[in-house]
Amino acid sequence: MTKLNLSEKSKNYYEENDIYEIFSIAEDYPNKIYKALLPEIKNKIVLDLGCGTGKFMSKFHKDTTKYYGLDLSEQQLNIAKEKVKDDNVEFICCSAENIPLEDNSIDSIISTWVLGTILEEDRRTKVFNEMRRVLKENGSIYLVENDIGGEFEEIRNRYPDISRTKKYNNSLENNGFKCYNKFETYFKFDSKEQAQKIFSNIWGTEIGKKVSKEIIKQNIVIYKTMKKL
Ligand SMILES: C[S@@+](CC[C@H](N)C(=O)[O-])C[C@H]1O[C@@H](n2cnc3c(N)ncnc32)[C@H](O)[C@@H]1O
Repeated sequence: MTKLNLSEKSKNYYEENDIYEIFSIAEDYPNKIYKALLPEIKNKIVLDLGCGTGKFMSKFHKDTTKYYGLDLSEQQLNIAKEKVKDDNVEFICCSAENIPLEDNSIDSIISTWVLGTILEEDRRTKVFNEMRRVLKENGSIYLVENDIGGEFEEIRNRYPDISRTKKYNNSLENNGFKCYNKFETYFKFDSKEQAQKIFSNIWGTEIGKKVSKEIIKQNIVIYKTMKKL
């Protein structure tokens, strides 16, 4: 629980999820991801896999027939539950490796910055298999991920050495995901000091010192795949 990053067991999804919540609110400040995915969830049965503190749930659920928010962390789900109180929403606390939903029951799965937090490739494969199992025959999966380049990658030392991001994004493509959309967005924190504090807490003080303003540009890629390849 003490790792200085956002991998699966990060303290920022557990005892320090107040820090994650500030980070999450600042992320994609202009709502470009929301706008890109809205047509894909409208009037659908949706699974938000690794929904965290409900960033997208709170925006999307009203437009869906049914919205499942699944996350491994009860603490993350507790923040989401405070934000979203609606009969069409169901919270599921479990690992995405064993999704407690029926086969062929979901129209759209969205998963925003989740698969990369699971470090072992064989466990990610298990999650992909589970996603495909619960998906209806004509259903789709959308993964929101960080793309190569941009200030967010540079601050975290993932640019100009792009090997880590490239390896991960290639692994998604090897699992049948194709680029659906790409764009630049940005984080907007209340102040430079707040941004530095949040980055220091998550990635350590050296990374925090690299933050020089409250706006941080971020390159996004949305991957899509269907039930059958
Ligand atoms: C980077 S956060 C993203 C949260 C949310 N999707 C968002 O956009 O703000 C990753 C989330 O994935 C969850 N998570 C990590 N591993 C998981 C697993 N094996 N099963 C389910 N959720 C997982 C974490 O608890 C955390 O809430």
